[in-house]
Amino acid sequence: MRAPMSEEPIVEPVVAVIGATGAVGDVFLRVAEQREFPMKQLKLLASPRSVGKQLMFRGQPITVEDTTEQTLEGADIVFCSASSAVSKQWGPWLRARNAVMIDDGSAFRMDADVPLVVPEVNGDDLEWHKGIVSIPNCTTTPLVMALNAMRQVAPLKRVTAASYQAVTGTGAAAKAELEAQIGHIGRGEPVPAPTVYPVQIAMNVLPQVDDFDEDDYTKEELKMRNETRKILHLDTLPFAATCVRVPVVVSHSEAVHAEFTSEASIARIIDALKSQAGVVVTEDPTTYMTPLQAAGDDLVYVSRIRRDPTVEHGIVFWCVTDNLRKGAATNAIQIAEEMLRRNLVPGAK
Ligand SMILES: NC(=O)c1ccc[n+]([C@@H]2O[C@H](COP(=O)([O-])OP(=O)(O)OC[C@H]3O[C@@H](n4cnc5c(N)ncnc54)[C@H](OP(=O)(O)O)[C@@H]3O)[C@@H](O)[C@H]2O)c1
Repeated sequence: MRAPMSEEPIVEPVVAVIGATGAVGDVFLRVAEQREFPMKQLKLLASPRSVGKQLMFRGQPITVEDTTEQTLEGADIVFCSASSAVSKQWGPWLRARNAVMIDDGSAFRMDADVPLVVPEVNGDDLEWHKGIVSIPNCTTTPLVMALNAMRQVAPLKRVTAASYQAVTGTGAAAKAELEAQIGHIGRGEPVPAPTVYPVQIAMNVLPQVDDFDEDDYTKEELKMRNETRKILHLDTLPFAATCVRVPVVVSHSEAVHAEFTSEASIARIIDALKSQAGVVVTEDPTTYMTPLQAAGDDLVYVSRIRRDPTVEHGIVFWCVTDNLRKGAATNAIQIAEEMLRRNLVPGAK
């Protein structure tokens, strides 16, 4: 049960971060500092392995605690960046206590009563939340921001995409594996058997992100399709993706083909992208952004926009975004900011 909304927006919630020691958790702390996210108290939680570690926030050390009913008690907003099992364990518990869980994982994304939100695209969906809000997969977020702008020019007919995904999309252990493999290669040593990916990622490209699922697509490819449909409210949008892991540390890239039901000139597409909050468009089709350039900020960079000559009304573009920031931590914090602004966080004083 949700408590009735107070008249005044909550200014300073009690915040907990589950998964504070992970790749997303680490970036979350930096983004919250930079955005001066308001909070009365911050609790940093993780697994029992991390209890006692100290993490810095706003110049002060905070001791990491285990994730338990006691440590979560009293939180108004809980950012969860751990695993589906952890989200499923705590989501319903927090909901029953009038807290809001903003979940980075995939556990609830497709649930009918859970909004899946990119604030610049479908912030209004926050209005019907019931205590859990999901953020999309880190490839979906930049894609829907670009497509949402483009569909202001003409309705979308079909989308296909190939992703080039950084190892931090898998988590801190994958980054360590890539760096260790690069070290072995640099020293001329044999590379030990991988433990995170099925095969070596250094000097390689893996056409598999997550496990295989229906129709021989991977779960990541199906997430990209299903989440795009949900966020854009286009339940039957024809969509196919190939998701690829590349030996890049931060920032996911995507090569996207978008087809429209009527004429969508490049000039109008560019104008629409310029009007989309959070998107930066490069007009010169021979100039582009790379993952290294996009790393460290919160923008979605769209470049190499050109006609797709294989269909009547189609374009091709290149899109790059920091997967840990706008792909995860920043989007989660923006959701919380938007919920506070709309007075949608129950339970807090
Ligand atoms: N990486 C991305 O680009 C990205 C983008 C969007 C969404 N996400 C999602 O964000 C989540 C976290 O990803 P990540 O990349 O940060 O993973 P990660 O680096 O592997 O970190 C996982 C975090 O979860 C904690 N954890 C593990 N088991 C736990 C438990 N039983 N109880 C409480 N905490 C536990 C870990 O704590 P210990 O350190 O104590 O083990 C660690 O802090 C995943 O659901 C992922 O799908 C990631």
